[in-house]
Amino acid sequence: MFSRGIELKKPEQIIKMRAAGLVVARIHEEFAKAVAPGVTTGELDALGRELLAQEGATSNFLNYGAEWGYPPYPGVACISVNEEVVHGIPGERRLQDGDIVSIDFGAIVDGWHGDAARTFLVGDVDQKARDLSEHTRQSMWAGFAAARLGGRVGDISHAIEVDIESRDKGYGIVREYTGHGIGTAMHQPPDVPNFGKAGRGPKVTEGLVLAVEPMVTLGSEDMVTLDDDWTVVTHDGTWAAHWENTMTVTRHGIWILTELDGGEAELTARGLPFGPLAD
Ligand code: MF3
Ligand code: CO
Repeated sequence: MFSRGIELKKPEQIIKMRAAGLVVARIHEEFAKAVAPGVTTGELDALGRELLAQEGATSNFLNYGAEWGYPPYPGVACISVNEEVVHGIPGERRLQDGDIVSIDFGAIVDGWHGDAARTFLVGDVDQKARDLSEHTRQSMWAGFAAARLGGRVGDISHAIEVDIESRDKGYGIVREYTGHGIGTAMHQPPDVPNFGKAGRGPKVTEGLVLAVEPMVTLGSEDMVTLDDDWTVVTHDGTWAAHWENTMTVTRHGIWILTELDGGEAELTARGLPFGPLAD
């Protein structure tokens, strides 16, 4: 069912999105174990391909863009190291001790999409970069915490912005890329910016499923796309972090479809209602 261009999912469809989300969450667990100095981003992508096949799932990233004449995305994961912010193409780049690497990964199960990103620390990472990743992660949770039935998508955007600003005024919040609706396609309306006014935007209703994904830099929010047509780097060369989960709000509470525990631990720790439909 579509309402003002937004695909609203029935409970049984959200259960299917949970299955896709769990595949993404499980494969992220494997990425977490595989990330280490010396590993190439191409090897991580190959691991993602193998695990997707084992799960009986397909990739929503591979060949993305071809439909509208853009150079088709060549991987199943976007792997962005240090000054790379998003859409890093996996290849020969070898992770080094002290790097941070964001892996954005998705899956399709039974026609339904999941999408999530994590920033991983490679070996011994300096405190500034560790904080950047942790603060970006926290801002994602601040966004979820602001989601309630009857509220607005802008509440989520605003909460992310306020949270990041409260951590370090020097951080840059990426504005060019946003979160998004997700369902029978990876990118659907509405956009979910990582900044904005509370009380604005589409209503948060039952059946709305969103990918919420703050991208934060240690400096400028200006982005440059490399000649490969995909890799987005910071204009000033500062490092960036990216965290993302696919989430929904049920009549019981918030449900994070791409976390193994559905978000229960983090939500409960924040005093927020955890709202699985079934699990
Ligand atoms: N999954 C990314 C996002 O978070 C977009 C991936 S673009 C692709 O919205 F080309 F790699 F698929
Ligand atoms: Co996304």
